Amino acid sequence: MKVGIVGAGMVGSAAGYAMALRGTASQVVFVDYKPEFAIAQAQDIAHATPFVSSTVVTAGDYDALEGADIVILSAGVGQKPGESRIDLLARNAEVFKQIIGKVLAVAPDAILLVASNPVDIMTQIATRLSGLPPHRVIGSGTMLDTARFRHLIGHHLGISPQSVHAYVLGEHGDSEILAWSSARAGALSVEEFAANIKFPLTASVKDRIDDNVRNAAYTIINGKGATWYGIGAGLERIVRAIAKDEKAVLSLSIVTPNVEGVRHVALSVPRVIGRNGIELDLLPELDEAEHEALRKSASMLKETVDAVKF
Ligand code: 2OP
Repeated sequence: MKVGIVGAGMVGSAAGYAMALRGTASQVVFVDYKPEFAIAQAQDIAHATPFVSSTVVTAGDYDALEGADIVILSAGVGQKPGESRIDLLARNAEVFKQIIGKVLAVAPDAILLVASNPVDIMTQIATRLSGLPPHRVIGSGTMLDTARFRHLIGHHLGISPQSVHAYVLGEHGDSEILAWSSARAGALSVEEFAANIKFPLTASVKDRIDDNVRNAAYTIINGKGATWYGIGAGLERIVRAIAKDEKAVLSLSIVTPNVEGVRHVALSVPRVIGRNGIELDLLPELDEAEHEALRKSASMLKETVDAVKF
C-alpha cells in the first residue's frame, strides 16, 4: 500500500506518523509546496520507523506519487482562533484547483482522501475537479467528531469508547448532528446503560457533551493553534480500512445523491468502506428533530458549495 500525502503540515504529518507507527502503509510519500519542509517531515518520521515498523517514508514532487493507492489531501490553511471551517473555503478551494490535476496525472487510480477544511465542501470540490466517482473521493468528515462523541460518552459511562456505537452526522462543523437516538453502549441504548449504573444522561449532561463535541476544535485551537493528533489517527484508520478491505463502518463524507431531500451534497453518514472506497451508506434511525437538523445541515452545505464558482 503506497500512500501519498499532499500537505506536510501538522495534519498530514500526524497521519503519516500514525501510519508509520502502525505499519499501515508500506510506503508514505510527502509532497508539499515547500519541498524542504516535506523532506524534513519525512526524515523525522522515517527516524521513528526503526523502532516500530518497516514503512518507507520519503518526500518528493508530484512524480513521486506515481502508483499511489491512496492520496491524502491535507494541503491548505487551517483555522485561526475565531475562524470557522467555512471561513477557509475560498483559500483552500484555490489550493485544490492547483493540486488535483497534478495528483491525478501520476496517480489516476488512487482513492482521494480529503482532510482539508471545510472538509465536506472540499470533498465536493475535489469530486468535481477530479471527475472521479464519489465513492473514490472520501472526506474524513465527522469521523473525528464521532470519536469525540464516543470518547465523552465512554467517559460518562465508565466504559471503553470502542464499546460505544454512536455517530455524528452531517457537516464536520457547526451544524453537525449528534445522533443520540441511535447511540448504543454495547447493545443497550446509552440512556438505559446510564440509568442502570445510576449516572443518568440528563438533558444537561447531553447538552454538555454536545457542546464539547461541537466546539472541541475551537477549544483546542485556542489552546495550541491547531488540531492534529485526533485527525491524524482518524486518517490512519481510514487508510487501514481500505488497505485491509475491512468493510468497516465509519462516519465519512462523500457526495451523496439524496440526503433528506437535498440532492448531491457531500456530508457524513456511517458508510461501509473497503478496498474500492465507499461501498454502502447506512443512515441510522433518527428521531424527527435529528432528521430536521440533518436536512438543515445538508441544505447549508449545498447552498455553500453551489456558490463556489468551479
Ligand atoms: C477539527 O475538528 C479543525 O476540523 C478540525 O479538529
